[in-house]
Amino acid sequence: MKEEIEKIKRQSQLELKTLLSETDIYQFKSRYLGRNGSLTQLIKLLKNVPQGERAAVGALINAFKDELEEQIEQALSQVHAAARNLKVSEHTVDVTLPGRQLPLGGRHPITIVADKIIDIFTRLGFEIVEGPEVELDFFNFEALNLPKDHPARDMHDTFYISDDSLLRTHTSPVQIRTMQVTSPPIRIICPGKVYRCDSDISHTPMFHQVEGLMVDEDISFGDLKGLLTTFVHQIFNEDTRLRFRPSFFPFTEPSAEVDIQCVMCRGKGCRVCGNSGWLEILGSGMVHPQVFRNVGYDPEKVTGFAFGLGIERIAMLKFGINDIRLFFENDYRFLTQF
Ligand code: PHE
Repeated sequence: MKEEIEKIKRQSQLELKTLLSETDIYQFKSRYLGRNGSLTQLIKLLKNVPQGERAAVGALINAFKDELEEQIEQALSQVHAAARNLKVSEHTVDVTLPGRQLPLGGRHPITIVADKIIDIFTRLGFEIVEGPEVELDFFNFEALNLPKDHPARDMHDTFYISDDSLLRTHTSPVQIRTMQVTSPPIRIICPGKVYRCDSDISHTPMFHQVEGLMVDEDISFGDLKGLLTTFVHQIFNEDTRLRFRPSFFPFTEPSAEVDIQCVMCRGKGCRVCGNSGWLEILGSGMVHPQVFRNVGYDPEKVTGFAFGLGIERIAMLKFGINDIRLFFENDYRFLTQF
């Protein structure tokens, strides 16, 4: 019987070394300790052992059983630890990999150009004034010398809200609002969104304007020319040539549009400038006496000039953009170029 125990013990120790998985271990356990396991069989045979030796042999079997149980526990915890380590190693982070780049936003080209324009005029002493985008007919047209039946109203493609309210078609109404509540001297610019029912490669229903107004005693057309020349040289180039071309606006007299030498062909003539060599960039003129009377100023005592420009137009010329709609599509590839 003792020999039998030793034999099984040796066998078990050999097998123990070959166990690789949890399944191996459970099968091993049932081969020795299961209902028909070798050790269980030995215990059954114990009754055949002579009375005198039975206790000693029993103790031997029990010790072997305890040892085997402990070895099985140990083997199990080893395969569990190995499985855990494998899982952890599969999930480690490689800290040497390059990080993921987060896309960085930037300023919209319209904002860049608007800021630049505002910067130039504020350095020249102009104050920024803003006004409502939903405007009364009175401020947008009437007070600017454009009565209801005036043919020049057709130029504005107005979005009407009611008979006497509309989406402002220019920021000139801010000038009227300002003159109504302050007296000269006035030196302001009015940046903001304006609306016209028009849409093609050079027009969008909403666009941005900056208009300016200067009123005092003895303001002359020479002052207007000087200011706008300085502005053109700063926003484009010191050597950009410009010209004042006679024009018409109901709220200024005389009126002039300012052209700059074509930025694409430098005046030689190309498709962008329609072969003229010149590009129109803004409207301007001396404030019409009737406009002064409408806000309660005496045109015999004060004079002034006004001008207005489209920010999109300037941005297109500065950055060489050929379609105004690109500004409003918010295509990331477009926006990251500025
Ligand atoms: N308000 C005019 C426009 O939007 C521009 C302008 C402003 C012209 C001031 C002359 C004087 O077209």
